[in-house]
Amino acid sequence: MTSLDDLAGAARGGTLYGIGVGPGDVRYLTLRAAGLVRAVDVVAFFAKRGQIGNARRIVAPLMKDGQAEARLEYPVTDEIPAEHPDYQSQIAAFYRASAESLAALLRDGKSVGLIAEGDPFFYGSFMHMWRRLATDFPVEVVPGVTGMSGCWTRANLPMTWGNDTLSVLPGTLAEDMLVERLQHTDAAVVMKVGKNFAKVRRAVERAGLLSRAVYVERGTMQDERILALADCGEPAGVYFAMVLIPGEGRRL
Ligand SMILES: C[S@@+](CC[C@H](N)C(=O)[O-])C[C@H]1O[C@@H](n2cnc3c(N)ncnc32)[C@H](O)[C@@H]1O
Repeated sequence: MTSLDDLAGAARGGTLYGIGVGPGDVRYLTLRAAGLVRAVDVVAFFAKRGQIGNARRIVAPLMKDGQAEARLEYPVTDEIPAEHPDYQSQIAAFYRASAESLAALLRDGKSVGLIAEGDPFFYGSFMHMWRRLATDFPVEVVPGVTGMSGCWTRANLPMTWGNDTLSVLPGTLAEDMLVERLQHTDAAVVMKVGKNFAKVRRAVERAGLLSRAVYVERGTMQDERILALADCGEPAGVYFAMVLIPGEGRRL
C-alpha cells in the first residue's frame, strides 16, 4: 500500500514551504500538507504570547517525536488596534526578525514548513514571510481549506446560488463601511469578528440581514459553536469567529 509519506512527496533542503493546515480539524489537511509537516526539517509557526499556536495545535497529531520547531511569537496581537503606530512598528520589526531567522535556517540547507491556519494566501501571516523571502529562496505554497469553507460546511449553509456575489469583509472595518458593503452584496462572510462582535452585529442588523446571519465560533475545532447571530449574546472576543450570510439566488 502507498504510504502517506510517499503520496505527499519529499521536502527539499533550503526550501520554504507555506503549508495551509485547514480550519481546525486535522482530517481536513491535504495529503501534501500532511506529508510535508512530517517531511520538513523544521516546522515553524506563529503563536500568540503564552499560547500553543493555533496552526501548531492543528498539526499536533501529525508531528514526529523530536521534530525541530521554530516558534515565532507575536510581540502583540489584539491588545493594540492594528491601525495604531505602536502596533505597526512592533509587528513590522517582528516580521523582519522572523524572516531573518527563517532565512538563516534556509541558508543552512534546512527545509522549513511554515504552517498557516486555513489557506496561507488568505489573510495569513505567512504572506509577510513570503514577501520577504520568495525572491531569495525557493518557496512552495500548499493551499488549505479556508476557515470560511470549514465554517459554512459545519453550519450546513450553501452560500452562493446562481449569480450570487460573495463578499468577504474583515470585521475590523468601520461600522458604516460594513453596512454599505453588506447592502451591496448577495452573500457575505465577515471575518475577524472577535473583539468586533458588537459592531458587526449592529452592522448586520442595520443592513437588514440579521434574520439570515449565522455566527460560527471555532468551526471544525473541538469546542465549536454555531448559532443564529440574532440569538447570540456577546461572546468574550473569541479570535476564531465569523459571521456567515448565505445568498438567496436562483434555486432550480
Ligand atoms: C488572520 S485570519 C486567517 C484566515 C485563514 N488563513 C483562512 O484561510 O481562513 C483569522 C480569521 O479567520 C477566521 N477563521 C479562520 N478559521 C476559523 C474557524 N475555524 N472558525 C471560525 N473562524 C475562523 C476568523 O474570523 C479569524 O479571525
